[in-house]
Amino acid sequence: TREAPDILSAEFAEDPYPAYRIMRDEFPLLWHEPTQSYIVSRYEDVHTAFRNPVFTTENYEWQLEPVHGRTIVQMSGREHATHRALVAPAFRGDELQEKFLPVIERNARELIERFQGAGQADLVADFATRFPINVIVDMLGLSKDDHDKFHDWYTAIIGFLGNLSQDPDVAAAGLRTREELADYLIPIIRERRENLGDDLLSTLCSAEIDGTQMSDEEIKAFCSLLLAAGGETTDKAMASLFTNLLTHPEQMAAVREDRSLISAAFVETLRYSPPVHMIMRQPAEDVELSGGVVPAGSTLTCLIGAANRDDRKYAEPDRFNIFREDVLIDRAFSAAANHLAFSLGRHFCVGALLSKAEVEVGTNQLLDALPNLELAEGFVPAEQGVFTRGPAELPVRFTTN
Ligand code: HEM
Repeated sequence: TREAPDILSAEFAEDPYPAYRIMRDEFPLLWHEPTQSYIVSRYEDVHTAFRNPVFTTENYEWQLEPVHGRTIVQMSGREHATHRALVAPAFRGDELQEKFLPVIERNARELIERFQGAGQADLVADFATRFPINVIVDMLGLSKDDHDKFHDWYTAIIGFLGNLSQDPDVAAAGLRTREELADYLIPIIRERRENLGDDLLSTLCSAEIDGTQMSDEEIKAFCSLLLAAGGETTDKAMASLFTNLLTHPEQMAAVREDRSLISAAFVETLRYSPPVHMIMRQPAEDVELSGGVVPAGSTLTCLIGAANRDDRKYAEPDRFNIFREDVLIDRAFSAAANHLAFSLGRHFCVGALLSKAEVEVGTNQLLDALPNLELAEGFVPAEQGVFTRGPAELPVRFTTN
């Protein structure tokens, strides 16, 4: 029999998709010694792990707690429900449209203006890594002058979270961020409580459920979480969307022509190249998955990247096709989503609609501003990362007006 793939190998980091297929077909419930976790890769199993409340997220603590503090991602049960109810209303569709669409539009425009005249850009460094962070800083009602500072904190946090080789300098930079962000944010949060405005930070300061409000420290932790959960994901989704369209010119032409296809292109990108490839869960009791038992208290690694390419669920799963009919676009941004990129159930991404608004605005503006957009000559796109994954760079050229 064949040897089971290793999710920590160099070969896997280079291209996980062949290993995902072997796992789905031959090792659907795999014990992985180095991470001391069970791994599931089939759509049905990952779906169950997200949907069934017997699976909690307690075991995220070791990974997230040192850099953010305690956030809703690690919470479960009543504590999670309360905190989710405190923060979720600020990310609902109508709230976003009214308050934050102009913020999203302005930030896309300001970034594009910086490189529009150059005829070339790196859409990762010049746009994707900055756009969602600038949007979050402005939504929170913090100073625009601090966009670069937040970009540095963001880079340190995602470096820490993706630090598989345990580089001590990367770890130290991430941990430093926790102190620096607290020193910066706590005084602003205290001040904002006295002078509430129309911004997201004010909403978080005043939100109340059953007499519970968020503490200064909890608001700070949530803001820190937003940088990673809302930044890195939308960053990688934008970059992957453009990579996918630029490598499929006929689909790019269709999207340029009919902009209502952008949301289909986004959803297919989330299926085909999801920003988050792995999510952890912990069963509170023994659970049977793919014929094996996942014991209570163990760690379960759920491979979103593998589940989204499962041929038991999708026809021709390795083909990027914005016209496919087995992905339901109208459900893709709700907890009923039929791809798994935002997870499902209780922890379903709070920011799904925000990411949709950002990607639609960003894509529309980039297509308007950059005629004849194409990959830089000789550039071969490649993805990077294991827990999260996306293009490290995307050099392009275009015509200037
Ligand atoms: C949760 C993906 C954008 C905020 C999640 C989870 C995933 C995810 C997979 C579930 C984690 C779990 O189940 O353990 C994505 C992707 C995005 C995106 C692929 C973009 C394409 C955003 C944005 C924000 C955001 C823009 C806000 C600014 C959150 C928060 C949670 C979350 C706060 C935690 C929810 C909870 O634990 O109840 N996201 N996300 N995300 N996301 Fe997103």
